[in-house]
Amino acid sequence: MSKLKTDYLVIGSGIVGLSFAIKAADHGKVLIITKGKSDESATSYAQGGIAAAIGKKDFPKNHFEDTIKAGAGLCDEKAVDILVNEGVMRVQELIELGMKFTRNEKGELDLGREGGHTKNRIIHAHDYTGREIENFLLEMVRKNTNITIKENHMAVDLITEHHISKNKNKNKNEKVESCFGAYVLDDENADIYSIVADFTILATGGGGRMYPFSTNPSVSTADGIALAYRAGCRVRNMEFIQFHPTALFYKIDPVFLISEAVRGFGAKLRLQDGSLFMKNYHPAEELAPRDIVARAIDFELKKRGEDFVYLDITHKSDEELESNFPNIYNTLKKKFKINMSKEYIPVVPAAHYMCGGVIVDYDGCADLKFLYAAGETASTGVNGSNRLASNSLLEGLVFAHRAFVHSLKLKEENAEKYKKEFEEQIPEWDKGGAANLKEWVLIKHELQELQDIMWDYVGIVRSTPRLEKALRRIDSIYREIRDFYNRTIITRPLLELRNIALASQLVIRSALNRKESRGLHYNTDYEENTSPSRNDTILEPAIYKKSHFNNC
Ligand code: SIN
Repeated sequence: MSKLKTDYLVIGSGIVGLSFAIKAADHGKVLIITKGKSDESATSYAQGGIAAAIGKKDFPKNHFEDTIKAGAGLCDEKAVDILVNEGVMRVQELIELGMKFTRNEKGELDLGREGGHTKNRIIHAHDYTGREIENFLLEMVRKNTNITIKENHMAVDLITEHHISKNKNKNKNEKVESCFGAYVLDDENADIYSIVADFTILATGGGGRMYPFSTNPSVSTADGIALAYRAGCRVRNMEFIQFHPTALFYKIDPVFLISEAVRGFGAKLRLQDGSLFMKNYHPAEELAPRDIVARAIDFELKKRGEDFVYLDITHKSDEELESNFPNIYNTLKKKFKINMSKEYIPVVPAAHYMCGGVIVDYDGCADLKFLYAAGETASTGVNGSNRLASNSLLEGLVFAHRAFVHSLKLKEENAEKYKKEFEEQIPEWDKGGAANLKEWVLIKHELQELQDIMWDYVGIVRSTPRLEKALRRIDSIYREIRDFYNRTIITRPLLELRNIALASQLVIRSALNRKESRGLHYNTDYEENTSPSRNDTILEPAIYKKSHFNNC
C-alpha cells in the first residue's frame, strides 16, 4: 500500500483517541491506528477513577483549588477552570451514553477519596475504572461504521510541508505550518505507507517506559511527544515525571499498582520496623499530594538502605476489601499470595505519569495546523508541576472533546481545503538503502542502558551533576540509535527506542533548565519553590518555527 486518505487520523486508542473518534465519526471517516491490540493503552491500567465535583457538598471551585495546590504554583488557571467545570459535563455525558460506575445502596455514585483531594470525588468502576471505560468506548467504536481501527500500526513521522515534493529542496529551517497526516508502519506486513488526513490527533499517552520500573504498559514510549517535536512542535515542563508512591514491590512488568484509593480507604504507610512515618512529612499524612508521599518513601528507603515500605490496610475485613477493591484484593491473593486484610503489602514508588508534553492551547491545538494533542501526550497546563490524582482520565475526556469541537469549526469554515492541492505531492516513504542488520540485541541493550540511566540519575531526587552526566550518556545513546535507524529496516522496537531516547533527552534538558525544586522536580542543588509562577520550561523544536499556535 502507498497511500490512504481519511478525514480524521487518530493516533492511539486510549480514552482520548476513542472518545474523540466517536464524536468525529458523525462528521467524517475516522481511522484509528494503534501499535498493538486496541485495548492496550494506559487508560486500561487506570485503577482509581475520574475526579469530578459532582458530590452534593462538592463544587468545581473545590476541585479547582485542590488541583492548583497539587500543581505547586505552576498550573494554568484557565485550563484548570475548564477542566473542573467541563469535566462534570463530560462525566455526565459518559454516564448518559451508558457507562456503568460503582454506586452505593441508594443508587448514588460511590465517590472515593485520593491524595490531595479535600472531598470524596473519585467516580470509579470498582478498582478497574480505566479498563471498564476502555471496553465501553471500544464497543461503541466497533459498532460505528464510520470508524476503522488498524491494530499493529505505528506512526513513524508526521507528514508536514517538509515531505511534500514541491518543497523538498527548500531550506531545512523554513517554517513548517501544517500536518497532513502520518507515515505509518504496518508492523505485520513490514510496510510503511502514508495516511493523509484533514485532521490528526495525537492520543498516544505518556512515556513511563523511559524508566525500568513503571506502572505504564509497554506501549507508553512517548510516541506522540517525539512525533510532534520532530515535526516542529514545542514541548513544555517535561521534567515533571510523576512517580506513583505505591507500586507492589515485586519484579513484574508492568509493576502492579496499588491504587491511591486504598490509602483513601484508610491504608497507612509503615517502615519495615512497623513504624508510621508520613506524619513527619505532611499534615495530610498518607493523603498528601503524590510528589510528597513518593519523596518521603524514597528518603526513608535511602536513609535505611531498604528496598520497600509497607502499606497496611489490615484493619479492614476481607469482605470490605474484596467488595471495594476486587482487582487488587484478588490479584494480590491469587497471584502474589498476599492477603491484604491480614498482611502488610510491600510497596515502592514507580514511574507513573508525565505531567508535561506537547504544548497545546485550550482547544488542544499543537503548533502545527490541523494537529491536535490531548491527554498525557499534551501539556494543557492543568497539571502544573504535579498532577492531582484521578485528573488524568478527566483531562483526556475534556480536551479530546474541545479538540473535536475545534476541528468541527475548521471543517465548517473549510479551512482544510487548501491542503488538498498538496496531497497528491506527498511522496512515498523513502526506504533508502536500509538493510536488515539483524542486530536486535543492540536495541534491547540500548533500552536497558537508557532506562538505568533515567532511574539512577533522573528519578525522584535529582542533582545538577547527575542530570548533566545523564544527558551526556543519553546523547551518545541517541546518536547510536539514529545511526542504526538510518541503516536498517524500521521495526516497532526501533521506533519506540528512538522515541524514548528523544523524550529522555527532553526530560533531562528541561530538568537542567529549571533552576529550582518544584513539585515533582526535586533537585538537591536548589531550594523548593511553591510560589505561584508560570515559569514553564519550554523546549523549541529543532525545526525552527516563526509562529506558534496556528489555531490548528
Ligand atoms: C491510582 O489509582 O492510584 C492511580 C490514579 C491516578 O494516577 O490518577
